[in-house]
Order: sequence, then C-alpha cells, then structure tokens
Amino acid sequence: MLVLGIETSCDETGIALYDTESGLLSHALYSQVRMHAEYGGVVPELASRDHIRRVLPLTRQVLDQAGLPLSDLSAIAYTEGPGLAGALLVGASIAASLGFALKLPIIGVHHLEGHLLAPLLEPDPPAFPFVALLVSGGHTQLMRVEGVGQYQLLGETLDDAAGEAFDKSAKLMGLGYPGGPALARLAQTGQIGHYKLPRPMLHSGDLNFSFSGLKTAVMLITKQPALNHANLAAEVQEAITDVLAAKAIAALKQTNLTRLIVAGGVGANARLRERLSQAVPPLGAAVYYPKLEFCTDNGAMIAFAGAMRLKHADTRYGFSVKPRWDLAELEAP
Ligand code: KG4
Ligand code: ZN
Repeated sequence: MLVLGIETSCDETGIALYDTESGLLSHALYSQVRMHAEYGGVVPELASRDHIRRVLPLTRQVLDQAGLPLSDLSAIAYTEGPGLAGALLVGASIAASLGFALKLPIIGVHHLEGHLLAPLLEPDPPAFPFVALLVSGGHTQLMRVEGVGQYQLLGETLDDAAGEAFDKSAKLMGLGYPGGPALARLAQTGQIGHYKLPRPMLHSGDLNFSFSGLKTAVMLITKQPALNHANLAAEVQEAITDVLAAKAIAALKQTNLTRLIVAGGVGANARLRERLSQAVPPLGAAVYYPKLEFCTDNGAMIAFAGAMRLKHADTRYGFSVKPRWDLAELEAP
C-alpha cells in the first residue's frame, strides 16, 4: 500500500511517500522560515497561503523522485491537528480533493503521533512498549507507549513547552526566529557556569515540567550590562536539557521500561542527545531518535502514521481539522 503524507500544521510543508512493503520512498520539505523570520515568528495567514503554493508541486516532486504515477497511490494521509487552523485546512482540503478525484481513502493524522512514531522509520526501530519524550514547539510530554494509538500520559509541561523555552530565551537574547536552533548553535561557543538559572520542577517528584520561570530568569539576566551571549545560551540549553534528561530517566525508572524514544523538534538538540546517550545505557536501557530531519516537522512521519492507520481510511470526503487535540484521546487502529 502506497501512502502519500501531507503535513501543513505550521510553517513547514512536508510531503512524503511511504510504502508498507518497502518503507519510505521519497520525501520533500519546504520551510517557510525565511518568510516568517522578518516578523519574528509565524504569521498564520502567510503560512496558510504558502502551503497552498507548495503542496501540489511537492507532491509531484515526491512522485517523480520515486518514479511512480499518481495512480499508484493507495491512500492519502494528512495532518488533521493540532496546529494552526488555516494551515491545517490547506492540507486537509487538498487531501480530501485528491482523494475524491482519485477515489482514494483519506486519513486524518495526529501531528504528535507522527512525531512519536518517527523513530520507527529508522533501520533498527525500537519495539513496543517504550517511553516517549515528545518535545516540540508546542508540547512537552512523557508518554508510555504500548503500541500505535496506545498512549498513556506520564507527565507534561504545566506552562511553556521546551521548544518554547528555547524560542523565547532566544528572542530575549535577540537571536530572532526560529530561536531553538540559533540558540543551540551559539551555545556551542559558550561555557556553562557563568550564569545561574533555575531547573524548574527538577525535584518535584513527578514527571511534569515547567519552563515559564526560566524565561523570566533569562529576561532578568539579559538586562545585565556586560552580557556574554554565548555563555548565556550554553546555560539556557544546559538548564532545559538538565530537566528533560532527568525526567526522561525518571520515567524509565518509574515504568521499568528499557526503551526511550525522543521525538519532536527539540529532539534535534545535540546536547540533549549527548546527555541521554550517556545516561540511558548504564540503566540497561536504550535511547532511540529519528534522524535529524525527521525530528522537526516533515511529511515522512505523517505518511508513516497514516500507513499505521490504514484501517481508519475513509471515503467520506468531508474533512475537519482539530487545532487543539489531546494525544491521549487516540485509540489503537
Ligand atoms: O516539532 P517541531 O518542528 O514543531 C512543532 O510541532 O512544534 O518543533 C519545533 C521546535 C521549536 O521550538 C524549535 O526552536 C525547536 O523545536 N528546535 C530546537 C532545535 N531544533 C528545533 N530546539 C533546540 N535545539 C535544536 N537543535
Ligand atoms: Zn511538530
């Protein structure tokens, strides 16, 4: 079965072809980052309009790359939510129209399920069950994953997401948008230990997170006269990854599971990967990541999650989007 995946939830148009027999065949991404950078953040209306321009050309591109005609498709998966309503509607309406025209079923995919299953696209994928640390721009969650659609929330952020903490700190330091990767790059040239930042909820005894206090502490430090940006960036990254690594390890211990997967944009952070790759093996456990390009938003994870849910494929071409959607509401396919 050949599944076309369409991701348009935010500021990246991602399209991919996944074959249930032979795996990922091709994928393409158009990032709107340069367009939004001018405004210091994502402008939803501009995002929607740009997705309209990109989806069909990128679809043609992935079909050409795979050397397959449109008529070979078996189903079309699209991101149904969560995300920006207008941006989601672009992917949903194109998926429904293509489905109607080609008489193919369509599948609405949960964006976070896409992120969460992305490590399974790798050559040596983790077996279920596992703990998932989902760290994106809008979400920070620890999940116990028994199988596709079987997600039990272990803990989550009470306020800002980890990606948001990276982005907001970067903004306070004048690093522009998108802040996370820029801050991580600057941190490579800095040293920790020069600034004091809180590790919110590190010892809370549960698996929840809080990052809004960190932003306030960074804001106060940025008012100091002789600010060393690289050292502050290193400290911000250290504070965020300290808490993420500690809670992920606590989740492994609490669940007695031996596999951890890290997914979502912040999962691309090299310092987070370094810390987990050091801390997890001594526990008799293993940590798995998607490849870097599949940590941030992409079409491959949507095509793959769609392929896992082919039973849900639908030929009623009415479509909806869910700008807010709780992952724990999902059921097994
Ligand atoms: O998963 P994602 O692409 O989009 C959402 O679904 O939100 O995650 C984007 C988030 C942003 O907050 C971005 O700053 C962060 O991931 N991010 C990073 C890195 N790459 C992306 N944060 C820290 N270090 C990185 N290397
Ligand atoms: Zn995402």
